[in-house]
Amino acid sequence: MSWIEGAKRRAARAAAAHVQKGSVVGLGSGSTTLHFIQIIGSHLKSGKLSDILGIPTSHQAAAEAIKVGIPLTSLDEHPKLDITIDGADQIDRNLDAIKGGGGALLREKVLASASKKFILIADSRKLTTRLGESCPLPIEVLPFAIKPVLDRIRNLGAKAKIRVGSGKLGPVVTDNGNFIIDAEFGAIDDPWSLQRKLKALTGVLETGLFLGLTDIVYIGTQDSVKDLRRPRKEDH
Ligand code: A5P
Repeated sequence: MSWIEGAKRRAARAAAAHVQKGSVVGLGSGSTTLHFIQIIGSHLKSGKLSDILGIPTSHQAAAEAIKVGIPLTSLDEHPKLDITIDGADQIDRNLDAIKGGGGALLREKVLASASKKFILIADSRKLTTRLGESCPLPIEVLPFAIKPVLDRIRNLGAKAKIRVGSGKLGPVVTDNGNFIIDAEFGAIDDPWSLQRKLKALTGVLETGLFLGLTDIVYIGTQDSVKDLRRPRKEDH
């Protein structure tokens, strides 16, 4: 296993220690979260954990959870989750993050907001002093509104483009049937203000800025795991 995969695994293992018997668990998307899902699956198999229900943030997370034997449920049945674990593209010292590199940001933010505890896991390459530096911000947009929204995002100062994928011609279509705009703002001075401006654009469904949502970050390094914490937010 490369040091990066080892680091992701260490972060995932630290997060898995927060999952208790009987919990409803939000399952994030991406390669780091796959480690977490596999660890929970093996704990269920060995009897270390029981009575877990997962809510996936993507088809990817759902498929992996089914593969390793995590029973799934939905937000309709469990609108309040005990905990959600997810990866990130960039994380700063305030525990704020950019997410959506895998295009799952909308459901990821829905689950993060509906969870009593939200934990991010990542390898140390994801830490940054300033969000947005060398990392585009993914924005999920209603396809009908894509051109006016693209223009407005450019007017806000970003180099922005519609995400296109491999294995399919044309725009990437999210699990929700929408498009993604990747917007390069450079280092973002005031992420809260940018979030407000973007959410005010009609047709923008959600942005990949995860602000004030995270309780703990586990960062895997070459040989250890470090944590960043903030005082627990009040239960919603
Ligand atoms: C999915 O849309 C993203 O938010 C992922 O959580 C993020 O891109 C991290 O992915 P990796 O763990 O694969 O780096």
